[in-house]
Amino acid sequence: MLDIDITQTSTPKEKPRGDLGFGHIFTDHMFLMDYTEDPEKGGHWHDARIVPYGDFTLSPASAVFHYGQEMFEGMKAYKGSTGEVYLFRPEMNAARTNVTNERICIPPIPEADYVQAISALVTLDRDWVPDDPGTSLYIRPFIIATEPYLGVTPSKNFLFAIIMSPSGLYYKNGLEPVSIWVEDAYVRAVRGGVGFAKTGGNYAASLAAQQKAYKAGFDQVLWLDGTERTYIEEVGSMNVFFKVEGKIVTPALNGSILPGITRDSVITLCRDWGYTVEERLLSIDELIAAQQEGILEEAFGTGTAAVITAIGKLHYKGEDFSIGLGDTQGKIGPLSKKLYGALTGIQSGELEDRHSWRVAV
Ligand code: COI
Repeated sequence: MLDIDITQTSTPKEKPRGDLGFGHIFTDHMFLMDYTEDPEKGGHWHDARIVPYGDFTLSPASAVFHYGQEMFEGMKAYKGSTGEVYLFRPEMNAARTNVTNERICIPPIPEADYVQAISALVTLDRDWVPDDPGTSLYIRPFIIATEPYLGVTPSKNFLFAIIMSPSGLYYKNGLEPVSIWVEDAYVRAVRGGVGFAKTGGNYAASLAAQQKAYKAGFDQVLWLDGTERTYIEEVGSMNVFFKVEGKIVTPALNGSILPGITRDSVITLCRDWGYTVEERLLSIDELIAAQQEGILEEAFGTGTAAVITAIGKLHYKGEDFSIGLGDTQGKIGPLSKKLYGALTGIQSGELEDRHSWRVAV
């Protein structure tokens, strides 16, 4: 159990109104905790505190600036219809943090402490949780290596921080289906690498292909595997699902794909509803063949920020492939719509929470 020291701001900011966008506005407070490797006490997390949101001062030699030893998470707090505030499966973010940490030599954080820190910060800034439909308080925990040393070794010091941002929909076109560029030159991750870990370098590595897609008039990139450039991995900042002849297919977690919490929740909901869900290798050729045979019914991405985002069109090797059948072609399909409603309904307390995913703050 953390002993969290709280210093409240003396100058609270005005709450935003209208369109919040994503990730531009920050609440009044942030959580901080340091890790120090001490010759006498050993390594330990200490000085858990909530302070007014503000800038950090860091040595320019801090390891994070040179070798990218850092991780982050994404989660949300939701406002219920009578003012309750909920987190969604926060223990999954805590567990995934420690999986990432292990891969990039950041010391683990006790999961109960992690969830306690988030709950304490959300409690203090609970008036910042927006309540318009489609909005939430996006929570960004992250850890950076702060040791001022230029040698390539694991840092001895770290800073764990949590900041929060009232946000609307992640994509500027709202719930409109996104168009996808299938990238067959750049790769995002390879097996044995860090693709499964939530570390900033994965996202830096995605930017050039993302720019290429934008320039070609597409919203997002669909990544193929790093070895054969054949098997579908994930889309931009989302996991990806396809509905083919009534079955749901999603790439298996093979080490180069992020183990999404929304991904896991969608698999559970689809199985609850009686769908067969296959987690397996899925090649781009198999997908294009399904589209051409008229059995590719829907495609959608899942993510904390993106929730459920329908995919309307794929572009692969110079050709466009429209997704969906009949009058839902290029539009959000019925399963994507149902999943969006179910997930956001559970998250905001409107629907029954059969799997105990919601945590009231
Ligand atoms: C999230 O969905 O929370 C993510 O971390 C994706 C992010 C890069 C916007």
